[in-house]
Amino acid sequence: MICPVRAIVSVSKRVLLALLVAFITFSCRMQKNAGITVSAARPVGAPAEISAPPGLPPVPPSTDNRPTAASIALGHRLFYDVKLSGDETLSCASCHRPDRYFADGQTVAQGVGGQFGTRNTPSVLNAAYSIAQFWDGRAASLEAQVGGPIAHPKEMNQPHDLCVARLNADPSYRYEFAGVFGPGLITMDKIEKAIASFERTLLSGNSPFDRYQYGGDRAALSAAAIRGLAIFTDKNRGNCSTCHIIGEKFALFTDGRFHNLGAGMNPDGELTDPGRYAWTGAEADRGAFRTPSLRNVAKTAPYMHDGSLKTLKDVVDFYAGGGNSNPHLDSEIKPLRLSAQDRLDLVSFLESLTGEIPANAGPPVRD
Ligand code: HEC
Ligand code: HEC
Repeated sequence: MICPVRAIVSVSKRVLLALLVAFITFSCRMQKNAGITVSAARPVGAPAEISAPPGLPPVPPSTDNRPTAASIALGHRLFYDVKLSGDETLSCASCHRPDRYFADGQTVAQGVGGQFGTRNTPSVLNAAYSIAQFWDGRAASLEAQVGGPIAHPKEMNQPHDLCVARLNADPSYRYEFAGVFGPGLITMDKIEKAIASFERTLLSGNSPFDRYQYGGDRAALSAAAIRGLAIFTDKNRGNCSTCHIIGEKFALFTDGRFHNLGAGMNPDGELTDPGRYAWTGAEADRGAFRTPSLRNVAKTAPYMHDGSLKTLKDVVDFYAGGGNSNPHLDSEIKPLRLSAQDRLDLVSFLESLTGEIPANAGPPVRD
């Protein structure tokens, strides 16, 4: 028989226990929130002046991570440091190589242990202008992008807590982080912000096209490139600038949107990569990828999200053929009537988009 008094006590014990659990959960959440606030570090000191080269607009402002000279220098160091990879063999710059316009020249990227990924490495030059990062736009900002390759088992393969611990164990990093963000431990948040600061300085413009289009230098482009520009912008011929936009004062060569061209099909005519669909789940996004900027494109072969097209001529021929037919093909992609000369002219134009790279963007020289 259960004693009524005991029953009451045990019920109230249970209530107490429940209350205690609720309280602990609540206070943990508060702490977590407080942790987030505390870890939302900002670079201290005067914001650095980042001036955009001819042909590019001002760099979009980042209110909670305004780059300073010190945060840029720290990001520069991190970008080139193999400590960010699990086996200390790869840095960001192993794939985003300064001598290759910050791409890698490979079909798809190769991570630690030589493992192949599924996507072509895009250049990080001018990534500061992208409305979303990655071919499928899954990272909302430069800051949000950084953690991806560090932890990815097929890229740098280093869990974030290990990466943070490794840097905290290095006195020279502790000293440099404190100089940038003020006192406190190194966190992923700070690593992301420093690298993003550096990336905001990786701008490339002032190409022959920019000097022609925005600088009034009529001699900057060859006759072939000028004809190619006309085809590029003519809706009834190339129709390229519908997506690769050329503005009145500057050109990003992208609409910042996602389109399906049918690139990357297997021999059975199936798309091998779901593209943006994997993140939005929207049928219309199947096989859709972000329109890439075409700046420096002559230097960053091979092409498309899977590196499946080897040369610019292959790309032009691909468009002339109307892409690869599939149920989600973008309505702007149709067969084009382009003569052999037109195609050569388009390639000449694309070659005129090679610009300048910031002088000090290579491996950091430290004293
Ligand atoms: C193993 C090669 C590799 C390494 C190492 C690597 N990346 Fe990348 N990076 C890629 C590939 C491949 C993509 C495209 C992936 C995708 O779209 O799914 C990419 C995409 C990006 C983008 C987006 C560019 C765009 O146009 O969308 C940025 C920015 C970037 N990487 C920065 C970094 C930083 C910072 C590091 C170091 C923390 C790094 N990457 C390390 C291969 C690499
Ligand atoms: C409907 C929008 C659209 C139109 C029109 C368009 N493009 Fe593209 N372009 C894209 C997208 C999206 C990609 C990436 C597709 C992928 O990787 O699957 C791309 C990729 C490219 C690439 C490869 C860039 C790289 O870094 O890999 C080149 C070069 C290119 N386009 C040139 C052109 C030219 C030349 C034309 C006109 C003949 C053109 N585009 C018309 C949207 C468009």
